[in-house]
Formats: sequence, structure tokens, C-alpha cells
Amino acid sequence: MNSRLTDPYLDSMNLLNELSLLYPGAVSFGSGRPKEELFEVESVVSGIKDYAARHKPALVGSDNLNRLGQYNMTKGIINESISRLLLNDEGITADPEDILLTDGAQEGMAIVIHALFGSPEDVLMISEPSYVGFVGYAKICGIPLCPIGRKEGGMDLDELEEKMLALHNQGKRLRAVYEVPDFHNPTAEYMPLNSRRRLLDLAEKYDFYIVEDNPYGYYLYEGEKIPTLKALDIHRRVIYIGSFSKTIFPSLRLGYLVADLDLSIGSRKVRLSELCKKVKSFLTVNTSALLQAMAGELLEREDFSLKSFVKPKVSSCLHSRNLLLSALDRHLEGRCTVAKPAGGFFMAAECSFEWTRPLLMECVRDYGVIICPMYMFRLNETDRSHGFRLAFSNLDPETIETGAERLGAFIRNRI
Ligand SMILES: Cc1ncc(COP(=O)(O)O)c(C=O)c1O
Repeated sequence: MNSRLTDPYLDSMNLLNELSLLYPGAVSFGSGRPKEELFEVESVVSGIKDYAARHKPALVGSDNLNRLGQYNMTKGIINESISRLLLNDEGITADPEDILLTDGAQEGMAIVIHALFGSPEDVLMISEPSYVGFVGYAKICGIPLCPIGRKEGGMDLDELEEKMLALHNQGKRLRAVYEVPDFHNPTAEYMPLNSRRRLLDLAEKYDFYIVEDNPYGYYLYEGEKIPTLKALDIHRRVIYIGSFSKTIFPSLRLGYLVADLDLSIGSRKVRLSELCKKVKSFLTVNTSALLQAMAGELLEREDFSLKSFVKPKVSSCLHSRNLLLSALDRHLEGRCTVAKPAGGFFMAAECSFEWTRPLLMECVRDYGVIICPMYMFRLNETDRSHGFRLAFSNLDPETIETGAERLGAFIRNRI
């Protein structure tokens, strides 16, 4: 058995969903799910036939629609469309050959971890708090982790440099850092442009890679859009992970990787996208062509930009964010500090006491409200934190009001 699987850290991915099932009457600010009413499942699914009719030559197999039921290309069949989407919406230039379609961003993370890490000296640096989906998988694989703090909207870059040099002195090597610069999960921070540039410079100077995970980038509520790390990546240091879970819907389980870097293996250079392809061929063989056809058809229909398609979803989330800010203002009466997020699905807040698992249970059981304490995003649960995360992405106005009222009652009682 893999004894790493007994690490309590790995329970956090499911805990909030399980709490929702155990306490169905509780309001859940727990998990950041998109709103079902806006999924347009019927229209997306019906795109399969149109796609099959128009893409005969590109598909492997004998007849139209049945071709989509066949095994298919390991890297994907809609790579060209993803390349155009990335150029139009993010200003990212990517050769379709360097793109891989994945089973959600989650598979992209697993592929990157397997492709980049192989030696016990190679260390993965993460900020705390960080998204458990990525860190948890790295833990399962036994990748050495180096946590650092967060500062000014992103990883603490002074600490990054300090810890990286310390690793070198121990005969280790910083191989990659993981960051979600756009509306980070769980802090909702939007990494400023100067920090993005400095992180890229550090990667070039000290020869490490950056895994950029960007599922929330379309959800900008105010201010100027800041270019992704990948769009600024002139030295080819960034591996970009995209997802359709928040733009189309999560059950598509569709994401994509841009892996246009050359890695040195001895004196040889190997393209990372080819290594990723090899990993994928042993992980999921290929991403379902049927699911890719749905996304591919939508992308063609939308002229390779999802900006207008996601507009209703973004407006709905913005509305929920504003309602939650106002409800917290009324019900918390200044007892917590709440950071107004410029985008994304989450809001980060701090209260005067430290969250623990028993406190979370009390909040859910006795007050009927589920929040996500920041300690769940730390490697060690005993690293105490006053912080908590509230997801507002799939709640209606009444639920937001009720949840904020219940949270206010819990916090008042605690203090
Ligand atoms: C930062 C981050 N990355 C990736 C994902 C998962 O994406 P996918 O559904 O495409 O696997 C999430 C989902 O919540 C997330 O918050």
C-alpha cells in the first residue's frame, strides 16, 4: 500500500462535499461549483453531430459519428481550436503540437508532475495556502515539497529566492513552482503584473519551471486584465494548465496543457509536450473524442473565443459576489476582515480566532453553515490559521443571505 495515502491532508478534497451530504439543510459556502442553470448542456451536447459532419477527414475510423466513439489521438483532436482560443482570449501563442487535451485540469496537473519530476533531489515549491488538487497529487507521488508564504497577491518571491538558495546548499534543486495567478484558490488574489514579471525572471535566472493553473481567468469583475504568466513567457519557463469546467461545465472533464518547453536530458533536448504525451498514453490513453467534439463545436460556433459565451456566468458570479459582500457587511458587523475579490469564485476572510476541525463541525452542525478554513490548504493541519474561504459561485440570493446570517451568529457566539 502507498502509506502516503493515509496523510490527513488528502481528506480535505472530499470533506466539504461530504459535509454537504451529511447536513443537507446547511448553507454551503464550501465548494466552488459553477451554477447549473447556466450550463447550456443541451446545446453543447447537440454540437457533437455537427462536429462529426464537418470534421470527417480529421477523425480516425470508418464512419461519421461512430468515429468519435473510437480511440483517438493521445494529444487530442481539437488542439488547433485550443491554439486559436488561447491566442484570441489570452494572447498566448501555442503550436497545436505543444497542446494536450486532458481529462480536466486535474489530469493536466498529474501529467505535469510525472513529466517534470523523477529525482529525489527535485523539489516542488508551493505557496501556503495552495489548491489541494495539485499539492495532494504531488503528495501521493512522494514529490519533495517546499512551502512558502504569500505576499502582495502571490507567492512571497523574497522567500522563494531565499529557500531556493537554501535548497541548493542542501544538494537539492528547485524544479518547479505551482501558482494560480488569476483569482487564486483559496485566497482569490490577482497577482500583480510586476510580481508576474519577477517570478518569470527568477525562473530564468535560477533555471526552474512555473506551473500556471488558470481555471478562473475569465471571471474578472473589475480593473484591467493582467496578462497570464504564459502570455509573458518569453523564455519558455511556463507550463500552462487550462480548464473548461468553469467556462462550459465541469462534467465535460475537459482541460488542456501547453507544454512548449525543451527539457535537457543529459546532452539531449526533449520537448515537454512529447513527454506529457507519453505519460498520458499510460494514464487515460486519450481524452474522449466525443467530449472534445462538444467543446470543439462550441469553440467554432463562438469563433474561437469564449468571452461572450461566459458573459452570463461572469455576470451571475459578480452579482453573487456583491450580494455576499453586502450580507457579510450586515451580519458580521466588522467582526471579520473580508477581502473583496477582483474576480473568481471565492472570497477570503479572517476572524479573530483560529479555525480547527471541531470548530468547523460546530459551525456546520449547530449553525447550519459550511465554510472552508484555510488550514485545509496547508500541508500541516496543525499550522493554525484565522483565515477561511467562502465560495459564492453557485448560490442564489436568499441562500447567500441565510448563510451570512448564520455565519454572523456563529462568529458572534465565538467571540
Ligand atoms: C485552482 C484549480 N485548478 C483546477 C481545478 C479543477 O479543474 P478541473 O475541473 O478542470 O479538473 C480547480 C477546481 O476547483 C481549481 O480550483
